[in-house]
Amino acid sequence: MKGIILAGGAGSRLYPLTLVASKQLQPVYDKPMVYYPLTTLIEGGIRELCLISTPHDLPRFKQLLGDGSRFGVTIDYREQEKPAGIAQAFLIAESFIGKDSVTLILGDNIFYGGDTFQKAFADFKSGATIFGYHVNDPERYGVVEFDATGKAVSIEEKPKAPKSNYAVPGLYIYDNEVVAITKNLKPSARGELEITAVNVEYLRRGTLRVQRLNRGFAWLDAGTSSSLHEASAYVQTIEKRAGIKIGCPEEAAFRSGLATLAQLEQIVTAMPNCEYREYLAKEVVAEAKRLTK
Ligand code: G1P
Repeated sequence: MKGIILAGGAGSRLYPLTLVASKQLQPVYDKPMVYYPLTTLIEGGIRELCLISTPHDLPRFKQLLGDGSRFGVTIDYREQEKPAGIAQAFLIAESFIGKDSVTLILGDNIFYGGDTFQKAFADFKSGATIFGYHVNDPERYGVVEFDATGKAVSIEEKPKAPKSNYAVPGLYIYDNEVVAITKNLKPSARGELEITAVNVEYLRRGTLRVQRLNRGFAWLDAGTSSSLHEASAYVQTIEKRAGIKIGCPEEAAFRSGLATLAQLEQIVTAMPNCEYREYLAKEVVAEAKRLTK
């Protein structure tokens, strides 16, 4: 399975923060926002990644993430010249996807808790798998309605009168049909190729699976100043309490078997002295050595 991180958009809701660096490069507590979705894909064992961003921001992402080898993956970079909707990612990345299935994650979505996605990637065979998460403000999102048996019956993008409290988070898994489906989409009233329209098509074909994320799972989006601040506070709270890091792609690469302990150690040694390095050196490298003794 291939993985796409979509990190485009004008970030206008975060102005003036985004005058110089794009939304997905902003800090969420102690690391850049894009580290979190990157970690989610790496934890899922996805080795071939493509990052899509604007021509203006793409060089900065390259500077930050390089060719991906630091994280045990490869990263292709593609430009989204003009933002024309989330589903446009499948057209931009068509040659990257090739004949594979693909996971798309939005660069401002932060997930934490459990191995739901790892299992979903491993179990995926065909059609589409998306998720439903109970939120307070469904009208801001794609909203999925379930019938009494728990089967998804409708999906609507930012409905004024939501039919449920279940929002569709920004992580989607599709078979290779997604490219053809996107090519047949017509832009919505706001001129975008809507990801919701892709999901509606899979629903119509009877090949859409909607998995509800349980209560222990955290899904944060960091697209406004207050949600950005809340996401930082959440990450800080968990990290401080548990003595672990959330959204640490180097650690994820090691734990999911994409990097060896020797590779991780080499990368950590090359880091400047900082809290991030100290964490990886003590809690991950030294701990792994102690356990294997
Ligand atoms: C997009 C999607 C929406 C989804 C959301 C998740 O909304 O259009 O269906 O629920 O991402 O973050 P946007 O971020 O463009 O408002």
